[in-house]
Amino acid sequence: MGTNQVEMCPVARLIFVVYLLVTTCSASPPNFVLLFADDLGFGDLGCYGHPTSITPNLDRLAADGLRFTDFYCTSPVCSPSRASLLTGRYQTRSGVYPGVFYPGSRGGLPLNETTIAEVLKPLGYATAAMGKWHLGLGQNGMYLPTRQGFDHFLGVPYSHDMGPCQNLTCFPPDIKCFGHCDQDVVTIPLMYDDIIKQQPVDFLDLERAYSDFATDFITMSAKKKQPFFLYYPSHHTHYPQFAGPGAAGWSRRGPFGDSLLEFDSTVGNLLSTLENTGVLNNTLILFTADNGPELMRMSRGGNAGLLKCGKGTTYEGGMREPAIAYWPGIITPGVTHELASTLDILPTFAKLAGAKLPMVQLDGVDMTDILVNQGPSKREAMMFYPTDPSVRYGMFALRLGKYKAHFYTRGAGHSETTPDHDCHIISILTPHDPPLLFDLESDPSENYPLSLQGRPDLQALLQKIQAVREKFEATMEFGESQIDKGIDPNLEPCCTPQCTPKPSCCQCD
Ligand SMILES: *[C@@H]1O[C@H](CO)[C@@H](O)[C@H](O)[C@H]1NC(C)=O
Ligand SMILES: *[C@@H]1O[C@H](CO)[C@@H](O)[C@H](O)[C@H]1NC(C)=O
Ligand SMILES: *[C@@H]1O[C@H](CO)[C@@H](O)[C@H](O)[C@H]1NC(C)=O
Repeated sequence: MGTNQVEMCPVARLIFVVYLLVTTCSASPPNFVLLFADDLGFGDLGCYGHPTSITPNLDRLAADGLRFTDFYCTSPVCSPSRASLLTGRYQTRSGVYPGVFYPGSRGGLPLNETTIAEVLKPLGYATAAMGKWHLGLGQNGMYLPTRQGFDHFLGVPYSHDMGPCQNLTCFPPDIKCFGHCDQDVVTIPLMYDDIIKQQPVDFLDLERAYSDFATDFITMSAKKKQPFFLYYPSHHTHYPQFAGPGAAGWSRRGPFGDSLLEFDSTVGNLLSTLENTGVLNNTLILFTADNGPELMRMSRGGNAGLLKCGKGTTYEGGMREPAIAYWPGIITPGVTHELASTLDILPTFAKLAGAKLPMVQLDGVDMTDILVNQGPSKREAMMFYPTDPSVRYGMFALRLGKYKAHFYTRGAGHSETTPDHDCHIISILTPHDPPLLFDLESDPSENYPLSLQGRPDLQALLQKIQAVREKFEATMEFGESQIDKGIDPNLEPCCTPQCTPKPSCCQCD
């Protein structure tokens, strides 16, 4: 053999050595799967103590991964929470407030904001989003995921209750959706990229479509050895709950439980696909939810567990969420009490992928150390903005370490019906000076405001909280409100754009 060996010229040898260095030293960057449930409370999963939810796959992620006890979203409603998740910035900066986008909204997440997908794209990532977008649609679909760094999108551009649903089937064989949903707008479209595939969407088949889309995306990326980012903001468990034949009637918790079970089954399918394609060990799966439970739906809504109130409020139940990080071989199974947020996901993915951070004021911090070393959080504080943030009031509450100070409290329609009147809409905006102060470690339910009397330590703490608040608010530049740009019914997505009379004529199979 030796005699036949061709002697490499020095240049060829150098190229060969560089090639070896590149292929052996740079293990391919990790894949990311980001799961985002909708209106799911702190107490809704089996692994967070719900007695009758059936969530075996999420429970498996929790058992073999890291479960957070102190993880926050940034808003007690959908669109702003999603804006922060994808940009690592409070929604006040991007202008995704007050409230949420509607089918005919003129605005959207501004295109000059940098999403996680856009952070990863330059490194050669394949990117896909499926499920509920809710960050705008706009003129000619200008705010759809495909304009924000995602190669492909399969899903509904907003909430699946934002169109008449009284005649739609939510459970087999033909159980109509509960309630009427929004009237006088087009029925709910299912889109692929910027094309309407179906209107109204078939709820019984929707989860299967997502699961197949995810399987194809992961399989294709794995085959090409291309790193990928899959973002799955689910419709589950938002009102009106729905589920196909694989989940309907299988939970012990009624429509909410069936909807959650269907989501969990998709998580199971994702895990199998990652395993079968051999990429599970190089994939970080992160699960959390957009805001607290919609208590006004009563037993059809979610549950905040031991936390106070739910959706629409800045109490813990509105914004503290279940969260799980799973990465076999890298993340040591356990529970962490470190403070973390959806804001921190962009910097963390960027760090793990070796991507550049966008050159903007970020509110997120890298939480790699919490994930891989069970280390301390770099996050000092968490700010709580209401559904309608304003320069005048600023943040409603601030958490520093284990303490939370409420400067303002207010109930919300979304949190009606539980016995606690503080959660209800009759509890109007109330300023607190000095702020209501809670120790969330000894009183996570925010039941017992601390008395400052004879407590110089707490007086000093309040001064520190005040200083953190002022320093932060000095950096807060409110972006122009995208939602105040209003609604133009002509922008509602219609599969037969020229038909009359609108909106009811917009129907396609
Ligand atoms: C995006 O553009 C708007 C309008 O020009 C500007 O006010 C805002 O600061 C920009 N945002 C970013 C993140 O660059
Ligand atoms: C629902 O069905 C009823 C009865 O068939 C019909 O009169 C009504 O127009 C339908 N409503 C919508 C929103 O499609
Ligand atoms: C994945 O990682 C786990 C835990 O470190 C290990 O037991 C397993 O063999 C790995 N699987 C593959 C396919 O590398």
